[in-house]
Amino acid sequence: MRPILLTFAAVSVLALAVPALAKDPVPVATITVDTTQPGATINRNIFGQFAEHLGHGVYEGIWVGPSSPIPNTRGIRNDVVAALKAIKVPDVRWPGGCFADEYHWRKGIGAPEKRPATLNSNWGGVLEPNTFGTHEYLDFIDQIGSEAYISANVGSATPQESAEWLEYMTTEKATALAQERAANGHPAPYKVAYFGIGNESYGCGGSMTVEHYVDELKKFATYTKNYNPAQQGDQHMLRIAVGPSDGDEHWTEEVMKAWQTHIYSWDIDGLSLHSYSGFEHWPPSFPATGFDETAYAQVLKSTLKMETYVSKHSAIMDKYDPQKKVALVVDEWGAWYPVEKGTNPGFLFQQNSQRDAILAALNINIFARHADRVRMANIAQMINVLQAMILTDGPKMILTPTYYTFKMYVPFQDATFIPVKYDAGTYTKGDITLPRLDVIAAKGKDGKVWLSLTNLDPNQPLEVDAALLGLKAKGATGQTLTAPKLDSVNTFDAPNTVAPKSFAAKAKDGKLVLKLAPESVTVVSLD
Ligand code: AHR
Repeated sequence: MRPILLTFAAVSVLALAVPALAKDPVPVATITVDTTQPGATINRNIFGQFAEHLGHGVYEGIWVGPSSPIPNTRGIRNDVVAALKAIKVPDVRWPGGCFADEYHWRKGIGAPEKRPATLNSNWGGVLEPNTFGTHEYLDFIDQIGSEAYISANVGSATPQESAEWLEYMTTEKATALAQERAANGHPAPYKVAYFGIGNESYGCGGSMTVEHYVDELKKFATYTKNYNPAQQGDQHMLRIAVGPSDGDEHWTEEVMKAWQTHIYSWDIDGLSLHSYSGFEHWPPSFPATGFDETAYAQVLKSTLKMETYVSKHSAIMDKYDPQKKVALVVDEWGAWYPVEKGTNPGFLFQQNSQRDAILAALNINIFARHADRVRMANIAQMINVLQAMILTDGPKMILTPTYYTFKMYVPFQDATFIPVKYDAGTYTKGDITLPRLDVIAAKGKDGKVWLSLTNLDPNQPLEVDAALLGLKAKGATGQTLTAPKLDSVNTFDAPNTVAPKSFAAKAKDGKLVLKLAPESVTVVSLD
């Protein structure tokens, strides 16, 4: 068939002849925010971070050393500290991850030049200089105003090693270990708020059955004591046991069953859950950038499984712990994509797009809805690894779209959950149907009512009409995170492509009318 060639004149005539297409009406969702029924406190620890000795997560991301030309305080980058302070990081899990079960703390203390170099067998087989050890980590925690969450080596070390590590860090008595700590520059005891008893003990943390792990847990929980006088009684260090991966209900059952009948000598305060998203099957194959709308929808579909995992494990925990004494701690979550081209596959360096900002909001919303049980979560990982807040390149630093989700959510830290009823509507791409809208509300520590609204639909804006029970509002102000393209990212050359902009909404006929951009996260407080 001959191609039909239209001249410019013919096209113009055709254009004039076709009546202007009517614009699709903007869809409307109605929500009811019930401020008369406050729920649980959204523990600020659900905004926790994770920093493993992996790729450039610690070395270059946090630690550049005191002699670096990159501005630093005692070796820790000042730009990174300032950025993390702005998102009020509640705790940072360290030193791993898989790395933790091969970490021996004594190699990371003392004069830096005398510390032995070891191998990081899990992550690229690179040299681990041990220049960032216990003192440097706790200095970093102090600089960003956060709390320590240390993961113990259960897989390849003894309970004695963990017990001595805690004694070294926390006792005020003049034991040999405390004197060594003082000689290394810190006479006062450190605070260690959280202590993880192993990491993924079913896999890289020792390939154990849950029955075997429970026996190890009992021993480690018995001997890992915190001696800091300020951390006794109500202020005691919280011990977090290794919990399930994704939907492994058997693991949860067995640990909780053991906990229910625990004797005086051991106890735990949390059970971890690890669940990564962004892929359909292992290994991850959906790219971090340059993806189409189908991949956008697939990734968000995968992340919404978090709701199922959290609900299932919470229900099991309820059976053994109806008073919800043991928290579900989602201490590894986030998107896992193939590494950026040309980077070390063992370093897990990936870009971070507007899709990841949405993914983060959806997960935080799930944790907030389960605030009574999910009292801690740690996104993997903080800098230069997986779904990071920050990417660095030598002296340069950029903030990712995910960072901005965390920044906009700061008012939700320790806020009181407020129920919101709504019909989310649907967004469909091919055979994938997702909710179009995701909302949470809370009363902040500042006394204000805050809303977070995510429009998952990348093609259509959404009008949200909010009815408020127990409250009148003239309007709302805050910030919105949108992006020019489906897969927009911030780069070292264009660091501000995705950044929040101010947002305002007005009340009309007793309802607040919020106009959300496609594929956006919006956080507002009511006026
Ligand atoms: O976050 C990367 C790795 O993922 C962690 O080291 C491990 O715990 C998990 O499998």
